[in-house]
Amino acid sequence: MKQIPSACPVRSERPLSKAADIAYIRLGRKNLESASAYYQDFGLDVMEKKEGRILFRGNSSDLPCWSLEKADRDFLIGLGIYIHSSEDFENLKSIPNAEFKQNGRINSFPCVTLFDPSGLPVDVIYIPEERIRIPKKSREGLWNSPGKSPRANLPRPYDSKPAKIIRLGHAVFLKQEFLKNASWYCETFGMIPSDIQILPESKEPVIVFLRFDRGDILSDHHSIVIASGIADSLEHCAFELEDLDEVARGREWLLGRGHRPGWGIGRHLLGSQIFDYHRDPSGMLVEHYADGDKFDSSVPTGIHLINRKSLYQWGEDMPKDFLDTSLSLRKLSELCKGIRSGKQISVPTLMELKKVAEVSPRTWIKY
Ligand SMILES: [Fe+2]
Repeated sequence: MKQIPSACPVRSERPLSKAADIAYIRLGRKNLESASAYYQDFGLDVMEKKEGRILFRGNSSDLPCWSLEKADRDFLIGLGIYIHSSEDFENLKSIPNAEFKQNGRINSFPCVTLFDPSGLPVDVIYIPEERIRIPKKSREGLWNSPGKSPRANLPRPYDSKPAKIIRLGHAVFLKQEFLKNASWYCETFGMIPSDIQILPESKEPVIVFLRFDRGDILSDHHSIVIASGIADSLEHCAFELEDLDEVARGREWLLGRGHRPGWGIGRHLLGSQIFDYHRDPSGMLVEHYADGDKFDSSVPTGIHLINRKSLYQWGEDMPKDFLDTSLSLRKLSELCKGIRSGKQISVPTLMELKKVAEVSPRTWIKY
């Protein structure tokens, strides 16, 4: 393994808590109805519709994993994280500025809201472990392979309908202060950096894939990703599906309904997921994935150089607009605001990242 540069986020030896999983994402949306129709095509089920808010769930749980809330602009409101230890929950309640609610914001479980260094509200929901259902594979045995034909005399079944979403898998956040935010998630929730990507010239770390520390229990390779960004924002969210067929079926349905594709189908390098990205009506990326890596707490942090090709091992060519490297007025104004407010922002790092993200992995393809 390469030497970890000194300014990288690291696993904390004494975190304030060990959280268990990502619970939900809350989004403000100007047009709630079009967003709601989109996410039903995407594969989520509506579980509660009240004035100004629609809650959705996947198939592995009766708890919400997606909250769309009426707003005057499209933006990220916050996220939720599950915790199973009452002792750890009490620790988090004692953090200055923590807001405790006996009945959580979007379900009935006790919740404490913290604020990450960028000011994003993070609801920590105390929930018994047995309350979380473990998804079971239901389509086992449908693949014929050389010497093995579990589908003898049967054609492949096909149903034209939205993908069956199992659960919310991960969210990727862009942060002006990369190290400060990444370290906060490690120290507050005991998250482990599964892999870190560094820039080729300066060797500055710019992306960290964080997993929850469940000891011997397997965790997703990443549930939260922190990446350097010009503005604090949500880059994408990803939902787990059963298998490649389900990913492809989801793609067929969304394209057939006239929705905008993002990038896919392919397989990521770090995390290994088979992925397919789409854009919701606001333009935000959302991902269907299957077959992601699962690690226990024993796997050490990997360090890798970042470039456009490091995002996938195979797949469709990445569209030019997939990584938003534009310097819009809005982003520049956010950057100036951040610098003026005294944030530790490295402009040379952001510029090197922009340069790296614009280089095609296949030079014969003109982006
Ligand atoms: Fe992803």
